[in-house]
Amino acid sequence: MRTVYVNGEYVNEQEAKVSIFDRAFLFSDAVYEVTSVLRGKLVDFDNHMKRLQRSMKELHFGPTIKEKEFLEFHRKLVSLNKIEEGIVYLQVSRGVAERDFAFPSSNTELTITAFTQNKKLIDNDVAKKGITVVTIDDLRWKRCDIKTIQLLYPSMAKTEAMKQGFDDAWMTQNGFVMEGTSNNAWIIKGKNIYTREADNLILNGITRQAVTKVAEQLNYKVINKHFTIQEAENADEAFITSATAFVTGVIKINDSRISQGKPGKFTQLLREAYINQAIETLK
Ligand code: PDD
Repeated sequence: MRTVYVNGEYVNEQEAKVSIFDRAFLFSDAVYEVTSVLRGKLVDFDNHMKRLQRSMKELHFGPTIKEKEFLEFHRKLVSLNKIEEGIVYLQVSRGVAERDFAFPSSNTELTITAFTQNKKLIDNDVAKKGITVVTIDDLRWKRCDIKTIQLLYPSMAKTEAMKQGFDDAWMTQNGFVMEGTSNNAWIIKGKNIYTREADNLILNGITRQAVTKVAEQLNYKVINKHFTIQEAENADEAFITSATAFVTGVIKINDSRISQGKPGKFTQLLREAYINQAIETLK
């Protein structure tokens, strides 16, 4: 049984309660972060907190607890649940208010909840084998840069991809690849690595930012530019990045096999280098 965090309290997961009037429940009016845990410590925590603050600011959330307290309860959940490798899911909602489309007063107390999941992030079959992706039309709203819990469309897209026999979807607009359902999308051509520019239409991944630096240290050039479905299908290598996938190879895009159907050489090197770098950030 897990211990979870609800507004300052540590409770058994079966006893944790949030009001049915919570705006997360009624309007998906909440933001979240997923921070990975390695060796019982948090990866890149400060950058996750920065993005959380940005998401809350963009949505005009009221004041919240101090950053120090976020760190404290993340650490405490990791330790209470004995997580060596896995994630902490954190959600902050605008809080509880009578159902009304207009935002409630900014004094409304935010609802802060968090829980842990055990997960093999480094050594797992998916990382070894790579994943297959199918391109699907991106029907999300135009503020994908805010990490909200409005995840119904990505959830539909992933389910549809799996129905078609793929592992995930790369969402596209006008023939251009935007991102995966819960990860950033990348392709390699020669010594150039392409990932779409981070504007309002994709989430600027914390892993994406770290991987950019690591790739450049390995003498690859990272170009933030949109690429087409056809360019992706003809890439030398392809991969995804996220807090849970780290760097994971893509071995098939639609009907096209990529890097002979296994994670590419540079992708594997980058994954290793990223993990070594992530260990440096442990907190
Ligand atoms: N998802 N793009 C989308 C749409 C995402 O949902 C995520 C993360 C990313 C990668 O961001 P980061 O590198 O900061 O994890 C990109 C998390 C892992 C999730 O929803 O589970």
